[in-house]
Amino acid sequence: MTGTFVVFEGIEGCGKTTQLERTRLWLQSQTTRPVVVTREPGGTELGQHLRSILLEVSEGESIDDRAELLLYAADRAQHVEQYLRPHLERDSIVLCDRYTDSTVAYQGYGRQLNRELIDRLNAIATNGLEPDLTFWFDVTPEIGLDRAFKRGEANRLEREALDFHHRVRQGYVELAQQHPHRIVSVDGTLSADEVEKTVREILTKRLTSKSART
Ligand code: TYD
Repeated sequence: MTGTFVVFEGIEGCGKTTQLERTRLWLQSQTTRPVVVTREPGGTELGQHLRSILLEVSEGESIDDRAELLLYAADRAQHVEQYLRPHLERDSIVLCDRYTDSTVAYQGYGRQLNRELIDRLNAIATNGLEPDLTFWFDVTPEIGLDRAFKRGEANRLEREALDFHHRVRQGYVELAQQHPHRIVSVDGTLSADEVEKTVREILTKRLTSKSART
């Protein structure tokens, strides 16, 4: 596959979705390669259904932790086969809002499900497709949740207790230590312009070192 797979990760309110959109606009002005944007959950038609099951259940209604894990895995398996691989085979630069690290951080550290089980499921769902680069926008849960709540109504995961979000952030801290080449940590407390500048610098280096196709 000749494409480039870039993932944006972090806790709620870390700024990843804003940065993903800014990166798309900037990249489209820089390269003749196709640049596409997608997300998990919800990057396919099936994924849209799974996303509304996962995020729009009403307060009081619960989803079992293992059922939740399997729904995210189902979304990913469909996304990999129906969207990610076909675009990467066409030489696209694919910018994806969340991927396997979210499952490790949220279901592994947040819900405290077994890490080996999660790694196995991620391997099944991705069929071996790994990102070339992952940006992790790091903010504390206090800052992130404050931003997320100011945006409007909170989804099912945003409503979890602060403890849960601290564990999720710790998940990202440890993932970044385990994958120092793939995961680049960016200080998400900086201004959106400063974060964007950092992202551009890192991407420019990575894209030119991967190939001269930009
Ligand atoms: P997202 O659309 O990024 O929402 P937000 O704007 O709140 O970040 O992600 C949806 C939610 O799904 C988010 O709370 C994180 C959660 N999630 C998991 O728990 N596990 C996963 O594997 C993925 C992909 C997302």
